[in-house]
Amino acid sequence: MENIHAVYNGRFDNLNNIKISPLSRAYTFSDSVYEVIPFFNSIPIAFDKHILRLIRSCDALSFRVDIEAISKEISELIVKSELKNGYVYYQISRGVDHIRSHMFNHDITEETFGYVVPHTFSSQILKVMFCEDLRWERCDIKSTSLLGNIMSMNNAKNKGCDEVIMHKNNIITEGGASNVFFANDECVFTPKLSKNILPGITRELLIKKIKEAGIKVEEGEYTIDDLINAKSAWLTSSTKGLAQISEVIDQKTNIQRDHPLFKECEKLFIDSYLT
Ligand code: PDD
Repeated sequence: MENIHAVYNGRFDNLNNIKISPLSRAYTFSDSVYEVIPFFNSIPIAFDKHILRLIRSCDALSFRVDIEAISKEISELIVKSELKNGYVYYQISRGVDHIRSHMFNHDITEETFGYVVPHTFSSQILKVMFCEDLRWERCDIKSTSLLGNIMSMNNAKNKGCDEVIMHKNNIITEGGASNVFFANDECVFTPKLSKNILPGITRELLIKKIKEAGIKVEEGEYTIDDLINAKSAWLTSSTKGLAQISEVIDQKTNIQRDHPLFKECEKLFIDSYLT
């Protein structure tokens, strides 16, 4: 891609011009966290919530950051891009170390990097597969350490799927890069927050809208059977919005396309954030 606006350690430049050290701890250890901040009609969606989650991720790893400067950089990337719809990727690493060492040197400073790209928030229909959740026990931190997700998602891609639904001992956790929802005729269900899932911003926004509309929503522990017996199922993320699941490979399900309760939830979200 050409002419992507980016920023590295506070300096704005074309993405192609940015050079980083191989001793960046993002490179050697994935000692880094990130955010994906969507914007529509040039306005960020739930900016404060993304910043708050970034602060939480940084706190969990004891990163010291100037969050005001970072917020400004994210806003400036959107302005500079002159894009209407897109997202900013923003990453913070512990810094560039003197030499690779698990125990970091305390005199290094955090390294920041962001870029902005166009994105179309069009509705997607997804084919998914279940897989065992292979990840560590702090998936609530939005870390760039995503090997478990990547292994599972690429395995799914090789089987013709768009996403995975992960489970730990039959209890659904989340998607590879999304949160999971499903519904019967009168209630929406989603796995409750825990250290095993990312507290998705889209998830949070949607739950609030569903409650305000007087629709029943439950957060709990759900099994594979709960999902395959549901009438509709969908995944949420900042880039996907609400994406319906049309098929779960190797499973017979009751899931219908365009089930009324899904369409109602989708409309609530689109009317609030993507119109
Ligand atoms: N991923 N769970 C995981 C593991 C994710 O990677 C994401 C988003 C979500 C949804 O979170 P949110 O609604 O805040 O986007 C849940 C982003 C989009 C990514 O890594 O590109």
